Amino acid sequence: MKIAVLPGDGIGPEVTAEAVAVLEALGLPGLTLFTGDVGGAAYHRHDHPLPEETLQMAREADAILFGAVGDPTCDTLERHLRPEQAILGLRKHLGLFANLRPAKVFAGLEHLSPLRADIAAGLDMLIVRELTGDVYFGAKGQRVTDTGEREGWDAMSYSESEVRRIAHVAFRAAQAAGLPLTSVDKANVLETSQLWRDVVVEISAEYPGVTLDHMYVDNAGMQTVSHPERFGVVLTGNLFGDILSDLASAAVGSIGLLPSASLGERQTAFGTFGLYEPIHGSAPDIAGQGKANPMATILSAAMMLRHSFGMEAEAARIEAAVGKALADGMLGGDLGGSHGTAAIGAGVRERL
Ligand code: NAD
Ligand code: IPM
Ligand code: MN
Repeated sequence: MKIAVLPGDGIGPEVTAEAVAVLEALGLPGLTLFTGDVGGAAYHRHDHPLPEETLQMAREADAILFGAVGDPTCDTLERHLRPEQAILGLRKHLGLFANLRPAKVFAGLEHLSPLRADIAAGLDMLIVRELTGDVYFGAKGQRVTDTGEREGWDAMSYSESEVRRIAHVAFRAAQAAGLPLTSVDKANVLETSQLWRDVVVEISAEYPGVTLDHMYVDNAGMQTVSHPERFGVVLTGNLFGDILSDLASAAVGSIGLLPSASLGERQTAFGTFGLYEPIHGSAPDIAGQGKANPMATILSAAMMLRHSFGMEAEAARIEAAVGKALADGMLGGDLGGSHGTAAIGAGVRERL
């Protein structure tokens, strides 16, 4: 079982080290870890954010554990050399079109949410975000208009096959969990969203047991913090899913708590090939200070054991240990506590 570990930039290496330590603490036989350069760290060493050897390592692995990329010193580079292109490139090259971002307030941990406890108690949703299409991967550029003004432009589009395959992922998740499915779009304004909605309705005929509704993204943002209990599985596009998942993480309590799994169609000998990462970025404002909350990355490693290695019991063990550490008050600065990255990691391992 080969895991490619790509720590990346900023707090990426700090949080990834704790997730790796948790995996090692489980003492799973047959697990081999390889480490590769990615993001700004790779650019500084190899003049490219996603070097060929890193991509090769990712392709040969059964799963990828990813930290974060993003380096303020790279923000003025040509776009194709910026650290963010590494994660976008991995998702695209590896066909990882389905991004699962579970956002849940654990029972008894409502006080970590900035929402009123009775509202927070209802937050338990799975955001299924399309990950390899949308305005992210459309043509883009800057030009000068006839009147001599500079203009930036980005093309948004979804083909029906792209919508179909991510819709199937969301319908299957809703069906398996017995949850309602909400498809989030902006069909009142965007043709991309109208096609999205039409295709989702067509697919729904194959899942008569799943209750489907549609919601505009602005309303979905509002409902996430006022009536989160309305949501079970949320199906949405790349851009809306990016924004809604950060919002949902804040409603849970911190972006340092939300893991993710990015999956495609490829199966390995052990399970589904996938990339696992916290939903947060490299957090340059706290990087190198030992302050980052590693729980999102530790929970991402749990998702990896579940989806890529079929180790449900081990995944649940990690999740229970994180829940217990939180309940015991092992909180970082992001949650109003004073525990550092290493202390939180050790606290989780003690509770495994
Ligand atoms: P960010 O998620 O890095 O940080 C947002 C805020 O949340 C910051 O105040 C940060 O300190 C805090 N935060 C994030 N993770 C935390 C953790 N684990 N523990 C405690 N606090 C945490 O978002 P940003 O500041 O908008 O972006 C910084 C860089 O990261 C940018 O270059 C951006 O492009 C990149 N980014 C990368 C990824 C990724 O690699 N998948 C995701 C998001 C942003
Ligand atoms: C995320 C990040 C990325 C995204 C960036 C870094 C390209 O924000 O994983 O949520 O927008 O998908
Ligand atoms: Mn994001």
